[in-house]
Amino acid sequence: MKFAVFASGYGSNLQAIMDAVKNGDIKAELALVFSDQRKAQALNRAQGAGIKTLFLSRKDYAAPQSYDRDIVIHLKEEKIDFIVLAGYMRILTPYFIKEYPNKILNVHPSLLPSFKGRQGVKDAFTYGVKVTGVTIHFVDEKTDHGPIILQDSFKITVKDKLETVVEKIHKIEHKIFPKAIALFAEGRLQIKGRKVKVLDKPAPDSLK
Ligand code: GRF
Repeated sequence: MKFAVFASGYGSNLQAIMDAVKNGDIKAELALVFSDQRKAQALNRAQGAGIKTLFLSRKDYAAPQSYDRDIVIHLKEEKIDFIVLAGYMRILTPYFIKEYPNKILNVHPSLLPSFKGRQGVKDAFTYGVKVTGVTIHFVDEKTDHGPIILQDSFKITVKDKLETVVEKIHKIEHKIFPKAIALFAEGRLQIKGRKVKVLDKPAPDSLK
């Protein structure tokens, strides 16, 4: 299986994913890294690792759908089977999601369904939650909503500041995101309604 990672920024999750591909934990080919930001550090990381990259500027397109349409053309050219959103700060259009149903994975830095949106870590911290964490989920047409694959959590202590919580979130992301991608690539994720079952071995009706 071939997959693409979409990233808008620093790309620490991309790095964890590239490492997991390299050491054989993810049994799939990372064939393309796409960004909507020309200067995304994620693009440099990919280029440094010899992975093909693509940047398209949203400004060159009249509407979100025409932008997504062009991205999909590139994905089809590369024969991409599934997509991983690793800090991609743009909402995919329904058109895009229909092209890859149950084949897009996202990382969100809170325990969904709490604290959806762009500032999940900050919103949870400011709210005063005592426990927070990370969610890896399939993408559907509602933002931060699709079936949950993996979650992990930790307690926020009185000593924590926003920065330390961000660090802890990243640490968890770098552990469970590659794990979820590995499970998907092995055909070990089965969706039934909102529930995602992790199988011991690939099922005939798995998503692979
Ligand atoms: C991650 O915290 C992710 O949860 C959020 O954006 C951040 C991306 O970080 N959606 P990086 O670019 O992978 O370092």
